[in-house]
This record gives sequence, structure tokens and C-alpha cells, in this order.
Amino acid sequence: MEHLIDIENITKEDIQNIIMLAREFKNGKKKSDVEKQTLALMFYENSTRTKCSFEIAGQKLGMNIINFDANHSSLLKGESLKDTIENLYFLGVNAVVIRHSYSGIINNVMRLVKYPIKFINGGDGTHAHPSQALLDYYTMLEKIGSIDNKKIAIVGDVSHSRVAKSNIKLLSKFGVDIHICAPTYLQFEYLNESNIHYHSNVKAAIDGANVVMVLRVQNERHEKEGYPDSSEYKRLYEIETNLLKQYAANDVILMHPGPANRNIEVSSELLDNTVGKTILEQAQNGVYVRMAILNTLLKGGSNAS
Ligand code: CP
Repeated sequence: MEHLIDIENITKEDIQNIIMLAREFKNGKKKSDVEKQTLALMFYENSTRTKCSFEIAGQKLGMNIINFDANHSSLLKGESLKDTIENLYFLGVNAVVIRHSYSGIINNVMRLVKYPIKFINGGDGTHAHPSQALLDYYTMLEKIGSIDNKKIAIVGDVSHSRVAKSNIKLLSKFGVDIHICAPTYLQFEYLNESNIHYHSNVKAAIDGANVVMVLRVQNERHEKEGYPDSSEYKRLYEIETNLLKQYAANDVILMHPGPANRNIEVSSELLDNTVGKTILEQAQNGVYVRMAILNTLLKGGSNAS
């Protein structure tokens, strides 16, 4: 594993190794192999969980962390992302985490950069969010033991969700049945795969589900694209206590990558009770999974300075 750009570029073995390593970091059984290496966080889009958990992960590993400030950088003087990253490499940066609103930009810039800096995709447009899929998988295993023969429902704005796309790729590698639920105007492109099932009815989608992963309604994109307002979505798709009790498995776990729109895609009541705690545990597991990602990519590495 050279970089982490998309789940499709990594193997099942890579995924299992990251999960095992994350467990060791969480249990305090593993020491850092990447002390004193330098990580730059390049966030061109807002973030709470991804940015802070990569920062905390780097700190726990004894790394130096640079919070690259895009709004005060020479990018505003016209410097390209390629030139910026090559300069960071020569300043001593070993790895960059990039979040950007353009789908595919990290792949593109990685091909242009001539030096061996490591790239981590922190979420690009509507394309991919691989570290989120890895921490989601970690959380599922922690909570339900195994995903074999389990029903996983993903409910929400899948068309705009990089999280859903990375989760679908990861779970498909393990042959899991995935039930995707959205109104037709927010549905995922149709994939002719036997493990992927499409629903517009939320009751059918979550019926007997062991995992219900709720996605954020991405209002900022809807306003631009002229979709119905979120009250229509809430009426038909909001995951709330009675719906979950009536249809999902008794021991269902509720997941959400965050940030959540309370009382739109998921009720406040659910978020604030014990069922909702799993969502905070997802964020917490993000620290250990990101420690495992950094340690895997940077072990044995050196930099230009
Ligand atoms: N899940 C996620 O990517 O959250 P942030 O946007 O807060 O990083």
C-alpha cells in the first residue's frame, strides 16, 4: 500500500492489516514506527472529524503536524497544488492528507508530483472517502463481530456521498449484501452487482437490517441543483426510534459519518440515546484507524530534508 486514494486501489489483505493494526493501537499494544515524520493536513473543504482525528492520530504517533492553511498560502498567488506539494516535500513533509471539493483531484496531482511523498485522500468531492470506509468497517466489526451474512442498509443522499461510495466498494470486497435506500433523485448510479439492492422504500431497506448507516442530506448541493426541500425527505426517510424498532434487527447498530442534520435524516431522540452513541464511537475509532493508515504508509520512510 503506497498511498490511500480509493478503496478500489487496496486489497482485502491491506484492509485486514489496517484493521488489525488499528486494534493494536486502540489496545495500547503497538508503538509508533513513524516518530518524527511530518504530516501536512491540506483541507480545502470544511471538516471536524477527519481533520482532527488525523491530527490526533499523528500526535499519538509522535509525528510533526502541519496545519496547512490554504486561505493564507501561495496557492492564492497562483501556485499550483503540484508545486505546493513538491515544496512541502523538500521542507521535510512525508505525507499529505488532502480534502478537496473536486472529485479525482488527488489522483491527478499524485500523477504529477515527482517526489515520493505519500498521499492520503481525506475526501474528494462526491468521489471517495477511504479512511471513513475503513473506520466504518472497523466499527461494524467491533460492534457486531463479523459482517458475514449480515444485512447492511445505507439510507440517504447516496448520489452525493463519497462515504457511501467508499463503503459500498469496501463491503463489496467482502461479498456483503448492501441495501441502498434513497429517493430516485438522490439514488446511486445503478451497478449490476448481485450483492447490491436498491430501494426507494425505507421500511423494505431496513427490514431485518443489522446495520443502518444514515447519510447526511447535502442541502448545500440540493439548493444549487433544485431538489425538493428537506421536509419532503424527512417525511419519507427520517430514521427515528419507532421505525428502527419496528423494522430493523433487535440488535441493530445505527451509524452516520457525521455531521448529522438532526430531525432531517435521523431523529434527535435517536442521536442522543444509547443507539446514537455508536456514531460518536465511529469518530473515536477514526483516530486509531488513521494511526494504522499513517503507520502503514510511512513505516521505514524518509524525507528530503
Ligand atoms: N465524516 C466526515 O468526513 O466528517 P468531517 O466532514 O467532519 O471530516
